[in-house]
Amino acid sequence: MTALSVTQSAEIVAAVLFILSLAGLSRHETSRSGVVFGIAGMAIALAATIGLASRSIAATGIGLLVIGMATGAGIGLWRARVVEMTGMPELIAMLHSFVGLAAVLVGWDGYYSVEAKGTRQTEIAPDLVHIHHAEVFIGVFIGAVTFTGSIVAFGKLSEQMKSRPLTLPGKNVLNLGALVAFFTLTIAFVASPNLGLLVAVTIVALLLGWHLVISIGGGDMPVVVSMLNSYSGWAAAASGFLLNNNLLIVTGALVGSSGAYLSYIMCTAMNRSFISVIAGGFGIEVAPPGDEDYGDYTEINVFDAAELLRTSRSVIITPGYGMAVAQAQYPVAELASKLRDRGIEVRFGIHPVAGRLPGHMNVLLAEAKVPYDIVLEMDEINGDFPQTSVVLVIGANDTVNPAAMDDPHSPIAGMPVLHVWEAETVIVFKRSMNTGYAGVQNPLFFKDNTRMLFGDARERVDDILRTL
Ligand code: TAP
Repeated sequence: MTALSVTQSAEIVAAVLFILSLAGLSRHETSRSGVVFGIAGMAIALAATIGLASRSIAATGIGLLVIGMATGAGIGLWRARVVEMTGMPELIAMLHSFVGLAAVLVGWDGYYSVEAKGTRQTEIAPDLVHIHHAEVFIGVFIGAVTFTGSIVAFGKLSEQMKSRPLTLPGKNVLNLGALVAFFTLTIAFVASPNLGLLVAVTIVALLLGWHLVISIGGGDMPVVVSMLNSYSGWAAAASGFLLNNNLLIVTGALVGSSGAYLSYIMCTAMNRSFISVIAGGFGIEVAPPGDEDYGDYTEINVFDAAELLRTSRSVIITPGYGMAVAQAQYPVAELASKLRDRGIEVRFGIHPVAGRLPGHMNVLLAEAKVPYDIVLEMDEINGDFPQTSVVLVIGANDTVNPAAMDDPHSPIAGMPVLHVWEAETVIVFKRSMNTGYAGVQNPLFFKDNTRMLFGDARERVDDILRTL
């Protein structure tokens, strides 16, 4: 077997392992084996790529490669070990930005190795050279959009930037204009490649990526993260064409298409138009925040909350991001079990985007050993609130906001929410009157049947347990 066919066989094995990894990750029970397949595939892919490169790179080049990989692996291991589960989406957004930046650098390198030298000086066949021009341009464009889009997503997810959508005048025309500019510049570059056009498309794409994500509201960020995941896949595939690396093309296409499908599923769950979200909130008009008077809210103390629970028939607990922050899942599970021991019906209602990760609340509740059969999805439980005595909203906000249904100009308008306000009494556990992730006030807190129990969710639930 020649070295080339060994590399090609390794690439096929790695590609199959990546497909098995995706299949494994799609189900709870098989997710661990999915991760193992992914690690094995990546190890084989790296070995094959380095093996191939070692035939054409000098020893110093290989040395630099090893130093770079060891540094990257060290930082990656350290970050993965220390990251909190609530910090996962921002870490993922940051990693997507690296893929975007890599695609831009590969594109620029492609330009300097072929177009800048004059195509006669390269080994590319004359009838394929126009394809190379297009690959450089498209790779740089997708990479740059992914790069700045992911940096803005990182800023919003880590709360270093406001999550409210920025609405520039004529935002849709700006996005459309950037796309028209990209097509025009591509035609010009394929006809006559030059550095000025490459700089121009890089700037247009960087601005477009920034604008697409900054125009999207906090409530839609889960879709944006999976959309950027998809973009990063296409950026990698574009780099694969330029580097003539089949495995990168296959892997990029797998990430690109699975990310696009996940975005589509999330859009359906959140009642969002897929096209509108990928086009940076196209067609969504958001009113600027006003000084609306919501009226007064009513506080409750721990003793009265415990008394309400003691005399209730049925209780629904709707957890959100605040439960994860407070790590309140353990006392919440204990409270559920204590109430059930007294013959009170207790169930959990889980919103599809509660917390900061798909399935975030399910993982926390499973960790605290809450029985699966009392943990229900939003659609399964939404009709039961009118027959419920008490709802405990533990650190949730956007996912229980009635404005999503009542206010067509709210940034979260149209997003399905848990109808907690239909219960006899709602007790909201949070530390202040601050808004949730989408940055909008929640009229639930001011309703006649809502009681605010202020403080850290874990401490307050512990207090109730002691009182009970
Ligand atoms: P959020 O709307 O984020 O609200 C969480 C609430 O928890 C805050 O209002 C906060 O109020 C409270 N809180 C924080 N720390 C607390 C603590 N220690 N004790 C008690 N309360 C605490 O939560 P949600 O209802 O789960 O909604 C999730 C939001 O994140 C949605 O907008 C969703 O679109 C977005 N998002 C979701 C995902 C995924 S995939 N799940 C990914 C990215 C973004 P105080 O500060 O007053 O305490």
